[in-house]
Amino acid sequence: MTPILSHFAIAIDGPAASGKSTLARLLAQRLGLIMVNSGAMYRAITWKVLQENVDPKDTRRVIALLESIEIHCGNDGTFSTITINGVDPGDALRAEVINANVSIIAAIPEVRHKLIDLQRAYLEHSSVVMEGRDIGSVVFPNTRYKIYVDAAEDVRAARRVDMGEADSIAQRDAADSKRVTAPLVVAQGAAILDNSYLSIEAGVTAALNILYHQGLEIADPMIGQATSALPMKGVYWFGWMTFRAIARSLFGVRIIGAENLVTRGPVLVAANHQSYLDPPLISTLYDSEMFYLARKTLFTRITRWLYSQWNAMPIDQDHPDMASLKSIIRKLKNGHRVLVFPEGARSHDGELGEPAPGIGLIAVKSGAVIQPIRISGAREALPRGSSRVRFTRITVAIGTPIRLTSTELKSSHGKEDYNRITQRIMAAIAAL
Ligand code: DC
Repeated sequence: MTPILSHFAIAIDGPAASGKSTLARLLAQRLGLIMVNSGAMYRAITWKVLQENVDPKDTRRVIALLESIEIHCGNDGTFSTITINGVDPGDALRAEVINANVSIIAAIPEVRHKLIDLQRAYLEHSSVVMEGRDIGSVVFPNTRYKIYVDAAEDVRAARRVDMGEADSIAQRDAADSKRVTAPLVVAQGAAILDNSYLSIEAGVTAALNILYHQGLEIADPMIGQATSALPMKGVYWFGWMTFRAIARSLFGVRIIGAENLVTRGPVLVAANHQSYLDPPLISTLYDSEMFYLARKTLFTRITRWLYSQWNAMPIDQDHPDMASLKSIIRKLKNGHRVLVFPEGARSHDGELGEPAPGIGLIAVKSGAVIQPIRISGAREALPRGSSRVRFTRITVAIGTPIRLTSTELKSSHGKEDYNRITQRIMAAIAAL
């Protein structure tokens, strides 16, 4: 079947629970295309095989069954639909028994040939966003629009638990990646999108940017610009540039764990606090703006303007009020990154102090990714109570991000829960 030239496919591939279905669905809605879930096709065949009491490992019988059934793939306007002998398996496709057997069925070449023909046939009627394992590599190898969606294994496992599904992610990934026919691979020309620590909306924006750069025409003025990040305002940029140059040359700042840095989407940056140098030091890790908290008393009539240009938000250190906490949560919910020092004030002796409980509450209410950071050497460079800067070496250690699962977010309500999360954040900083 030759696809109509004006119809195109956006290929979204990736491992189990990487978030590719959600992404494909939202992209299809945003772009006005049909979303095709190719995994549902493999699941539907598995469902029929099990219904007919055929052993999935008995390849000969599976193929015989495949030849005797009528598979109909269509759409309901936005999403793909599938019936087998006129029956829509519906929610049964997500059952545990299907998760456990689908990789066996998907490894049979005859099954794949049949389903690939049906997948390609979609282009006869419409353009599609199709998600699966081999869409960019085998089904539509010539499409320009390819994204490989990935996420850390523990994040993917947590997502499945959140969905209330039992699914052995690692086992299924291994089976899908090692099979001989059309294994899960990063297709040639595909851009990799790791969404481990991105909000759903930030993931969609990142994907739209990728597609834009792959040549897709997108009528959205925000796309093609820097995502989620605020371009730097003049005064912020000037301070950032100057401090970055000083940090690199005079403090010889050493960064450990740069690969852990989450650079997109809302991030609650949680760092130890030793010196006035900490906020500008952390700002130099990013190439777009972030927000800080600053002692209320620092905001005088003269400094107010400057601090607001540097995105400092006033806070009463001794009695953080709900209004300040709410404004931090709002910033995070709007997709920004905010630096919070859980200890509240600068340390006197350089040791990690006791945290104020606020950060646990902010983490829960905002749902943002938490990035633990530990700075050492800043106290020696500019200690509390001193105004003389010494140019000693400073190290910034960036820890693996903490992402609270939606179960944790839903079940954390009171002071005790917020304290527990605060302690977890402190432990992550202490471990650096
Ligand atoms: O995306 P999913 O988890 O619903 O997919 C179910 C299974 O189907 C998956 O373990 C592998 C298989 N599959 C495939 O082999 N090729 C595709 N294009 C889509 C899914």
